[in-house]
Amino acid sequence: MAAAPEDLPPVGKTAVGVAALRALESRRPDRLFEDPYAGAFSVAGRAVLGGSDRPDGGLREVFAQQVAVRTRFFDDFVRGARQVVLLAAGLDARAFRLEWAAGTRLFELDLPDVLRFKDEVLDGAQPACERIEVPVDLRDDWGAKLVEAGFDAGVPTAWLAEGLLVYLEHAEAARLLEEVTRLSAPGSRVSFEHRPEGDADGLLQRAREVGGRVTQLWRGGLGSEAPDWLTRHGWHPETFTIKALATEYGRRPLDTSNGGFVIGTR
Ligand SMILES: C[S@@+](CC[C@H](N)C(=O)[O-])C[C@H]1O[C@@H](n2cnc3c(N)ncnc32)[C@H](O)[C@@H]1O
Repeated sequence: MAAAPEDLPPVGKTAVGVAALRALESRRPDRLFEDPYAGAFSVAGRAVLGGSDRPDGGLREVFAQQVAVRTRFFDDFVRGARQVVLLAAGLDARAFRLEWAAGTRLFELDLPDVLRFKDEVLDGAQPACERIEVPVDLRDDWGAKLVEAGFDAGVPTAWLAEGLLVYLEHAEAARLLEEVTRLSAPGSRVSFEHRPEGDADGLLQRAREVGGRVTQLWRGGLGSEAPDWLTRHGWHPETFTIKALATEYGRRPLDTSNGGFVIGTR
């Protein structure tokens, strides 16, 4: 049955919003990456994008830059890995748009409706690696389904949870990362967003005040304890700020908080 974007679960619709921001970035002459699929996803999903003309205090630009920087950062994170797991892949097109060494396997996990919508829009496009879809709810026992789909826990893996943990309760995020830890051979890496000072800069509160629908879905994930959590579970964490990365990529940082990313290595 056709997967209409209006029928996606609310959290699945957020993937369309991110694709729209990647399409925007891809059109810039000074783009930090090029995603030739993002435009098709945002056109197909435009019924759920729901733009607003209300003033938002510049938040749209801040979130657009966050997505641009994070996409580029996570592109660099997964590059070169031979086994990649995208936890909550959404409309991520890295399997198609990045160059991969022969034999690379990339697993895409997300809710069944999201993966179905994605397949319809991709319309038979050919990935540049072996791409394996695993429809799951990441609050359930997804590890067994990943292994069933061919994941090899003996191979060092790059795990990416981009734009996911904030939609999970603390206990759900911790359970997910415990499973990642269990399935990680030495040499594996994991990465996701991290705001070391929580919402001290008030960015998320401002987003709530201007009434972004997506903010009602935020549950907080691991919160500011992510690096400590990783250390306690045998990972070596390293943190990065959007501010420093934007500057490194030649952009004037719009998000002046310490928000950014963590990479854990085993
Ligand atoms: C903001 S989007 C990010 C998608 C993609 N990683 C990206 O950055 O473009 C959030 C994604 O998390 C997925 N997601 C949220 N909760 C989930 C759950 N419990 N199980 C599976 N996927 C989930 C949604 O379906 C959606 O695709």
